[in-house]
Amino acid sequence: MPVTITPLTPVFAGEVGTIDLRQVHDRQSLEALRTGMDKYAVLVFHDQNFTDQEQLDFAQRFDGTLHARTSSSAIGSNRFGNEALADVSNVDRDGKIRDANNRMRASSVGNRLWHTDASFVDPPGRYSMLSARVIPPVRADTEFADMRAAYDALDEETRASLEGLRVYHSIVYSRHVLGFDFNEDERDKLKGAIHPLVRTIPTSGRRALYLASHAEHVVDWQVPEGRLLLRDLIDHATQPHFIYRHIWRPHDFVIWDNRCTMHRARPFDDKTHRRELRRTTTLDLPLPVSA
Ligand code: OGA
Ligand code: MN
Repeated sequence: MPVTITPLTPVFAGEVGTIDLRQVHDRQSLEALRTGMDKYAVLVFHDQNFTDQEQLDFAQRFDGTLHARTSSSAIGSNRFGNEALADVSNVDRDGKIRDANNRMRASSVGNRLWHTDASFVDPPGRYSMLSARVIPPVRADTEFADMRAAYDALDEETRASLEGLRVYHSIVYSRHVLGFDFNEDERDKLKGAIHPLVRTIPTSGRRALYLASHAEHVVDWQVPEGRLLLRDLIDHATQPHFIYRHIWRPHDFVIWDNRCTMHRARPFDDKTHRRELRRTTTLDLPLPVSA
């Protein structure tokens, strides 16, 4: 299937022309999409009418191993019985909109902070693929920031000062900042992970800042000093010219590269309107040779 991509901003994010990802199995098309990801870091597809199983199958076909050690797996609440299919929605197990003090709601509002998926595990997340199933009648957008462009825009002295730094990432930390605390048993399952502050994407050679809400401290630095550096870098990286804002339609499917982007959900009246998406995230592992 031919793959055509139209840029959505001058910096990153592309919209893919007519394609049915359920039917994409050939190596050449998958490779063209991977090359598109290297160039654009966010790809938007319309009219992808996936079932859950089709979404899971595509995610594995495209990028290998799925992430299942999510925060909801620690809470033990996935309504699909499959932790690799993340429930990005505001509804309960019984399909009713969650009320204001629902514990899962309190945890999932953490998605409104700039973050990158699965940076708190090792190997961390690579691609996230979000499928829109029910979209509210009001705007409930997702914003993305290009961390390669943000890195490129730093002056040389700042870039040199970041060389070799490592950061500890923890979802226990990023949720605590918002006033949501995991219990001891959950914390045991969510130990966190250390990653370099600057990463190179091997297939494109581009360098990117790797930080966001789960980034708790810079290893071997005094905590306040490290946190201030992380804040400054997030402020720098989220300037309007590094951002793409996605306005969802039903059956949209968006793939982003967590190694070199951040994203955040924008607020909407989630106690009134239903919003249901499903996310599959792959781990940053080598692809099987046959893929
Ligand atoms: C996610 C996420 C944002 C949104 O699925 O990882 O952060 O707008 N979603 O739902
Ligand atoms: Mn996310």
